[in-house]
Parts: sequence; structure tokens; C-alpha cells
Amino acid sequence: MKVGVLSGGGDAPGINAVIRAVVRKGIVHYGFEMVGIRDGWRGLLENQTFPLTLESISGILPKGGSILGTSRTNPFKRKNGPQKIFRNVERLGLDAVVVIGGDDTLTVAYKLYEKGLSCVGVPKTIDNDLWGTDYTFGFNTAVSIATEALDRLHSTAEAHHRVIIVEVMGRHAGWIALEAGIAGGADAILIPEIPFDIDEVCKYIKARRERGITFSIIVVAEGAKPKGGKEIVYSKKVDEFGHIKLGGVGYYVAKEIEKRTGIETRVVVLGHLQRGGSPSAFDRVLATRYGVAAIDLVKKKKFGRMVALKGNKIVSVPLREVVSRRKTADLKLYELASVFFG
Ligand code: F6P
Repeated sequence: MKVGVLSGGGDAPGINAVIRAVVRKGIVHYGFEMVGIRDGWRGLLENQTFPLTLESISGILPKGGSILGTSRTNPFKRKNGPQKIFRNVERLGLDAVVVIGGDDTLTVAYKLYEKGLSCVGVPKTIDNDLWGTDYTFGFNTAVSIATEALDRLHSTAEAHHRVIIVEVMGRHAGWIALEAGIAGGADAILIPEIPFDIDEVCKYIKARRERGITFSIIVVAEGAKPKGGKEIVYSKKVDEFGHIKLGGVGYYVAKEIEKRTGIETRVVVLGHLQRGGSPSAFDRVLATRYGVAAIDLVKKKKFGRMVALKGNKIVSVPLREVVSRRKTADLKLYELASVFFG
């Protein structure tokens, strides 16, 4: 069999670990020919590929980013996009494609599968908001990075008696804010799932001061919105999947806090630091398990499915189910986190 591999959407630590596992098992155990597709769906639209050999995957396990490159290209937004993809798949002689991606990339995979593309999905996003799996790879690393940032910010906030707002990624789901907030001892956590009340946040800050603690750390997900208000956007320009670029909610929250309490407040936006660099050991193991399971699905010709983690088992779920829903943050866990607010 000749098998293509692509990674699409925002990168996440562990993509290379998936590629390594897919290629290693594909070549050594199944005798497949493996092909790297550059920059997500763009590579299939523009016929940009290269051979993936055992040499090309050597040493990539701990590396961040993607040796394939990635992009937010949506073939359904390009003239004759799907037709071009099918033409190139035929030209290249690909029997199957392993698609490493989040909601957008896997939605394209599902639509193309419906049109006849033999593909399997691997769940990737630091946001952890993909339906059908307990964890996406990349999330654990992002949480560790955000937690380390919270630990570091505690000492400077305390020394200056300040409030520090830490804005983390999480467009539709507050998983990173929630787990890093719990791990890093946040005094309030604001997530997209629950519109926030700025007066309540100020109450938490004041309550701490009344107890003699003169600093506060507040974590806010980029997609969090004030009660009765809208998400704060960085730019109204939308990408090919219709997403607006979020960013700035941290500054909004900081200004409102200063206005209402007079307490000096600073903002740290973690941004792409959460996506860059080496994956955690957890993500390397998860990505490796996903990669092996994905190429096993290809061997069994079980297409139109995504590998997933359920408890401690790797299973597979239909792409149809994955792309029709979103896994938002666990509100029971939020309730637990709120025990430590203020
Ligand atoms: O989709 C994952 C994500 O990390 C979101 O949380 C964030 O809004 C987005 O990517 C940022 O993407 P870009 O790299 O295109 O700015």
C-alpha cells in the first residue's frame, strides 16, 4: 500500500511523534510506502509531497512543530478543491491518507471520506476540545507550560502586590485554563463555557486582600466572554474555516479590575508558547499510541474513523460523530476549581 500523511490546523506538540509511529510501523511491519504531504490539505491541492523514509523520521520524537508543515487550508473553499485532491491522490497512487488534525482538518477528512477518500484521523489540538476522545495529544504539554508560567507569575505578583491576568488559548473550550488554573492555584478561572461577571472576579480579589493576601492570579481563556457580552476579537478577518482571530480578553479583564478596584493589574498572554517546543512524556506516549493505532486502521482498511483514547485504551470512533460535536470543558471540574477561587 502507498500511504500519505498530513498534519493540518494549528500545530501541537507531538505531531512528529505521531508521524514517526505511523511511518515506522507502516514501513517495518506492513511494508508500506509512506509519503509526506506538505502543509496540510494544501499539499494535496498543490501536489507537494516527499518520501517518508526511516531516515526522515530519525530523531524527530522530541521535536515540536511538524516535519510536514501545517496550514489552515480548506479545500472546500478553493475552486474545484475536492476534485484537485482526488486527482492528486490518484496521480500519487495513494491508497490511504492518515490525517493528523483538529476539528477543521478532520471535518474536511470526513467530507472527503464521504466522497470516497480512504482516510483515518488522529486527534490533535492543544485545546482538547475534540469530541470522541478523552484527550487530544498536545494538550498535556500546553497545560504544563501554562502551569509553569502560573508558578513563575506567583512570585512577581506577590512581590508587587499585583493582580496578574494570564490569558491562555482555548477558542471554544476552557480546558487549558481549567486544568492549568487548578494545577497552578489560580484565584479565578474564566472559560468560554461560563460567561463571567467582572464584579464577582473583583469580589474574589478583595476577599483575598481582606485575608491579608495582597496578590491574585487570574486565568482567562481567549474565548471567555463577559455576561451579556461577546468574545473579544483581535481582528475581524476570518480564516478559511470562518474563525475570527481571538485575543485581548486578558486586557479587557485587567482594565475592568483596575477601574473597579484601583489595584495595579498586569496581563501576560501566553499565546503560541503553549504550542511550541518539545512534547511532554505523556504526549509522546499518547501520540505514539495514536500513530500505531492509525496505521493499524489503515492496514485493516477501517476508513472514516479517528483513533481515540477512552480511559486507558486506544479505540476508534467514526469521524461522523467527531465532527458533529464539540467536547467542552467539564463543568464538574470547574465546580471543583471554584472551591479555590478568592
Ligand atoms: O486551534 C488551536 C488554537 O491553539 C486555538 O486555541 C487558537 O485560537 C488558535 O489555535 C490560534 O491559531 P493561529 O496559530 O492560527 O493563530
